[in-house]
Amino acid sequence: MEHRIVQPRAAPESPSMDELESIISNRSYLNSNNYSRSLAVMLQPGSYSDFRAHPEFDEAFERWTQGDRYRGLDMVRLWSFVLNIKHILSRCPGSLAEVGVYKGQSSAVLSYFAEKAARKVYLADTFEGFAESQFEADFSNGKKQAFKDTNLVMAKDVVGIYSGIRWIVGLFPASVTAEMRADYYSFVSIDCDIYEPIRDALRFFWPRMTPGGMIFVHDYSSGYWPGATRAIDEFCAESGVRGMLLPDLGGSYVLVRQGWPEAPGRGPERTVGGATDHHSDCSRYWCDDATAGECN
Ligand SMILES: C[S@@+](CC[C@H](N)C(=O)[O-])C[C@H]1O[C@@H](n2cnc3c(N)ncnc32)[C@H](O)[C@@H]1O
Repeated sequence: MEHRIVQPRAAPESPSMDELESIISNRSYLNSNNYSRSLAVMLQPGSYSDFRAHPEFDEAFERWTQGDRYRGLDMVRLWSFVLNIKHILSRCPGSLAEVGVYKGQSSAVLSYFAEKAARKVYLADTFEGFAESQFEADFSNGKKQAFKDTNLVMAKDVVGIYSGIRWIVGLFPASVTAEMRADYYSFVSIDCDIYEPIRDALRFFWPRMTPGGMIFVHDYSSGYWPGATRAIDEFCAESGVRGMLLPDLGGSYVLVRQGWPEAPGRGPERTVGGATDHHSDCSRYWCDDATAGECN
């Protein structure tokens, strides 16, 4: 069999291969925002570099890298967001949400697409890092202090202004509002690193996902956040749901909501993580103990 040597495609603004090799071998991308950008644009889907599809990517990249150019190097994660959010929003109804906003860069990407599609986006965080009550057994001092260098004002500045944003401030899931509970979702990013909120977020959102909707959970296979791995494995075991691993930096896990065979309001009751979907004559996708009686 003849093997063809595939030459890397040159994307717009990309450096030459010699330049690229020198940037990588000298690790000079650590000192230059331009190099980070150059490396990032080398590794693009052909649909973008050859056919100029996804013009939204440039704005998404700017938002993703605000205040931290090196985030742009995790192109697998960013492109997975861009391609899947666009795909989902053109097919599935429902709001977007992120649990774990920190300074707001990934939320800024969600918000960009939410605004284009006129969807709501819920952005949930303590905006002051982990609470002491959340510390896990393996927590080093570094982990205890992580993500404290942010606040709501800073995150709002990064995410920008859009009337469909709902800021959900405080410890999730206690922070969940009635509006959020009554809503249903097409794209959710869970990026809060530790066991309890990831487990609770999966239990909260999964029954509220519309068919075809996706949940991206960060940190499944990076090895750095064992609580994230445990939460996802437990949720999959209790719900029977299976997902797919991404080769991004944090080792994300992606769950896709399959078809909803019974139309809203006509299915049997179902229970996920202790909450029961009553599906009594209700026009919602999900109707649990907290909202039962408010239907129609
Ligand atoms: C890794 S950061 C999020 C990064 C962000 N998604 C990004 O890519 O730019 C994790 C965030 O989860 C938040 N977090 C952890 N547990 C939480 C909880 N129970 N409720 C709300 N926020 C939580 C932390 O405050 C922290 O800001």
